[in-house]
Formats: sequence, C-alpha cells, structure tokens
Amino acid sequence: MKRVVVLTGAGISAESGLKTFRDSDGLWEGYNIEDVATPEAWQVNPALVQEFYNMRRRDVLNAKPNIAHSALVELEQHYHVTIITQNIDDLHERAGSANVLHLHGVITRSQSSINPNLTYPVNGSEIKMGETCELGSQLRAHVVWFGEPVPLIEKAAQICTEADIFIVVGTSLAVYPAAGLVNYVPANAVKYIVDPNIPAIHNGRIINIPTKASEGVPKLVAELVNEA
Ligand code: APR
Repeated sequence: MKRVVVLTGAGISAESGLKTFRDSDGLWEGYNIEDVATPEAWQVNPALVQEFYNMRRRDVLNAKPNIAHSALVELEQHYHVTIITQNIDDLHERAGSANVLHLHGVITRSQSSINPNLTYPVNGSEIKMGETCELGSQLRAHVVWFGEPVPLIEKAAQICTEADIFIVVGTSLAVYPAAGLVNYVPANAVKYIVDPNIPAIHNGRIINIPTKASEGVPKLVAELVNEA
C-alpha cells in the first residue's frame, strides 16, 4: 500500500465551527498569545490560562467532524494513512481516522508539568490545572505552548520521509517546527495543498487546490481512491 501523510492545521476544522488562528476573526483576537499560551503565562496568571483552555475544550466538545475529516478516513481503505495534525481538537479521531499524531497536544488530555509524555484523560468536564500528579509535578493542559519543544517532531519527520503522497490541509505553515516537516517529504512524492489561501512552500512540485477543505478534500480523496 502506498503511504499517504496528511498535515492538517486549523483550517480543516474551520467548517466545524472552530476558529483558525491567523485569519482576521481568529481565536487569538482579544487574547495575546503570551497571556494564555506560554509557560510564563501559566506562572503569572494560572486562572486565566485554565479558563482559556476550558473554553477551548468546551468549543471542541461541542464541534463535530466535517466532511473533510470524514473523507480522509475513506483513504484508509486504499492507502496507509497517517495524519499529522497541529490541531488540539480530536475531530480526526471522532471522524474515525486510525493514525493521528497530535504535534501540539490534544485538549481532551492533560499532562505533567515536567514530563509532556505523561498524559492523562481529563476527568470530569474541566481541565483542573495545578493539581498534583506523578513525580510531584502539576497537571496542565496537554498542549505545546509557544517557546516549548515539540516532543513528537522527530517521529513526525520520520513519517514524512516515507510519504508517497503528501497532503497539506488548512495550515498557514507559519509556525515551526511543524512548517518544516514539508522539507522531509521525498522530492518524488506527489504533494497537494488544500487551502483557500495557498501558503508559499518551496519543496518541489506541489499541486495547489485553492478551495475550502470541505470542497477540496473530498474531491482529492475521490481522485486518489480512483488511482489506488
Ligand atoms: N478550509 C481549508 N483551509 C482553511 C479554511 C477552510 N475552510 N479556512 C481557513 N483556512 C486556512 C487559512 O487560509 C490558513 O492558511 O487555514 C489556515 C489556518 O492557518 P492558521 O490560523 O495559522 O492555523 P495553523 O496553521 O493551524 O496554526 C499553526 O499555530 O497558533 C499556533 O499551535 C497553534 O497549531 C497552531 C499553529
């Protein structure tokens, strides 16, 4: 089976009602990133950071996967598919995708403040940051904050080196190291970007599909299924 690697960003969940970051009505509006998504912010204002992630968690739990998420599941009948997502929502899993790597964490789990690999399901309706967990550390949202290393980046890069087909959906490719994953994809892999605003990337031949995910992804999946 050929290997398909899909790199997704906030744009794939936009039509599920979850706001993107860098579009004009983005989620960060009204919040400075430094105030809610850095280790320093949690030190300075833990209540604000906890409320911010619980708000995002409620939005995610209320959202449903859209037809772009579902179309990617169909690919699994014909290809070995891995989804590398920058999203902290769980819509790929809820759509039914089997292999999902959450590069920036996932809002349905919490983690130890000193070891991001120690993660836990969120019990109850709210993330309770600051409670003591293993190693005497504190529970926090399982999210990679700005300025923190991305623990899964090497695994993701390795997966990209094995891609026969690479699909980018709904990411501005503005944030590293995620944006650099494109550079690990073999030169002879077939590459597609589905995004109404195609980001500039420089890695060989790329087929641009300048549409919303709900339109472009199901069409692309239908073509790939035909070719399989
Ligand atoms: N379908 C497809 N793409 C869309 C849609 C849609 N309906 N609506 C918007 N987009 C595109 C935008 O054109 C843009 O290129 O989605 C992209 C969203 O980009 P960003 O808001 O920058 O989101 P993302 O790339 O996922 O951000 C990366 O930055 O803030 C951090 O950690 C956070 O994981 C996030 C990372």
